[in-house]
Amino acid sequence: MVRVLFVCLGNICRSPTAEGVFRKLVLESGLQEHIEIDSAGTHAYHIGKPPDARAQSAARQRGVDLSALRGRQAMPVDFERFDYILAMDSENLEHLLEICPVHYAPKVRLFMEYAPHWPPEVPDPYFGGAAGFDRVLDMIEQAAAGLLESIRRERL
Ligand code: 4NP
Repeated sequence: MVRVLFVCLGNICRSPTAEGVFRKLVLESGLQEHIEIDSAGTHAYHIGKPPDARAQSAARQRGVDLSALRGRQAMPVDFERFDYILAMDSENLEHLLEICPVHYAPKVRLFMEYAPHWPPEVPDPYFGGAAGFDRVLDMIEQAAAGLLESIRRERL
């Protein structure tokens, strides 16, 4: 089993979107028995909350249902449990590395490393308009495809 955790600040916009998009891709590939997927936030603001309505609506337009997801905060045990801990931006990455035991630090990476032709960080869409959420989906779809290819090649 390969375990993947997506991480952003609030766990209501970018990382649940990544979780939903990647879960759909994994299901379509028939690999759901081999890849476990979750998401979390570096901050506690939105624990227990469903994804932002704008994120849900943008994802729904691409056939991805985020409605069942609920926010949670990243915690120390995540570094042991997950194989890939993928941050949306460098601030998320730094926050994770601050609480990550040093021997697990190589698991913590920027998600956009899996889409090398795109910018390295998924921009925070929370304070912007609907276009920001579409942009987030464009980026996440590319990186999700790259991640699945990489897991297939290296881990399955
Ligand atoms: P996310 O977006 O990190 O993609 O879930 C945000 C959600 C909430 C806040 C910031 C970013 N906030 O400041 O509450």
